[in-house]
Amino acid sequence: MGNNDISGKRINISHVRKEFQIEKESLLVLKDINLEIEPGDIVSIIGGSGCGKSTLLRLIAGLDSPNEGEIALDNTKVTKPSLDVGVLFQESRLLPWESTWKNIAFGLPEKFDKEKKNELVAHYIKLVGLEGFERALPGQLSGGMQKRVAIARTLINNPHVLLLDEPFGALDAFTRMNLQEEVVRIWKEQRMTTVLVTHDIDEAIFMGNKVIIMSAKPGIIKDVIKVELPEPRSRVSVEFEELRMKVYKEFFGDDRPMEDYAI
Ligand SMILES: Nc1ncnc2c1ncn2[C@@H]1O[C@H](COP(=O)(O)OP(=O)(O)O)[C@@H](O)[C@H]1O
Ligand SMILES: [Mg+2]
Repeated sequence: MGNNDISGKRINISHVRKEFQIEKESLLVLKDINLEIEPGDIVSIIGGSGCGKSTLLRLIAGLDSPNEGEIALDNTKVTKPSLDVGVLFQESRLLPWESTWKNIAFGLPEKFDKEKKNELVAHYIKLVGLEGFERALPGQLSGGMQKRVAIARTLINNPHVLLLDEPFGALDAFTRMNLQEEVVRIWKEQRMTTVLVTHDIDEAIFMGNKVIIMSAKPGIIKDVIKVELPEPRSRVSVEFEELRMKVYKEFFGDDRPMEDYAI
């Protein structure tokens, strides 16, 4: 059961403005955001804490709406959440009393018959490498494995758009690198349009075809850097190092030596 026929949707973000009202004060979080993400592309958005990354993802997901401007998926305006847009958050948000199997099946529409459900769950368990752990509860799994459950639960609805909000932030460095590779592998297979929000520059470069740099107060897009690296990507190549320098410099906006930077 391959999903090679899936192509992602185009994401169009035009003149998006988002402010929040806090008491009587108004906080301008996103100011005139314009971005076009090609169908089937994978892009990273980096920016410091509070610059509006999660807000932007929530708007794309239809979990909130902009004050001005519009977001469209394949020319259809986003007005509410849809199963076509999968979101993965930093916390895995699993049901602690349910098994891997049940947690993954959780998001499937009621109308599917049992056989179809079972077939789908088995497929996604295999895709994320959790065979043998079908009956385990979340508390019996490592953080990385819990994240795999969350990934499978998100992918089982065949989203054409996948939004990742600092999904690996709480994991140790090795698990994190491992899951970055897994998600890229799955993206290469399924080509859903993928937007990764992160504050990890290496993660942004390793996973994205473009690195979109945001700056804060109000959140604007400062620059877009194309990632052109030989595949499979190596984290220790000269090309990777050059890109890392370029992103750091763009991010901080000056020419200090790299060891002076601290985020
Ligand atoms: N629902 C909300 N109500 C009020 N302020 C919010 C809300 N959501 C986010 N904010 C504020 O908007 C800013 C951007 O938040 P967020 O998008 O979470 O940033 P990031 O994900 O880049 O760290 C922050 O100052 C945050 O406090
Ligand atoms: Mg955030």
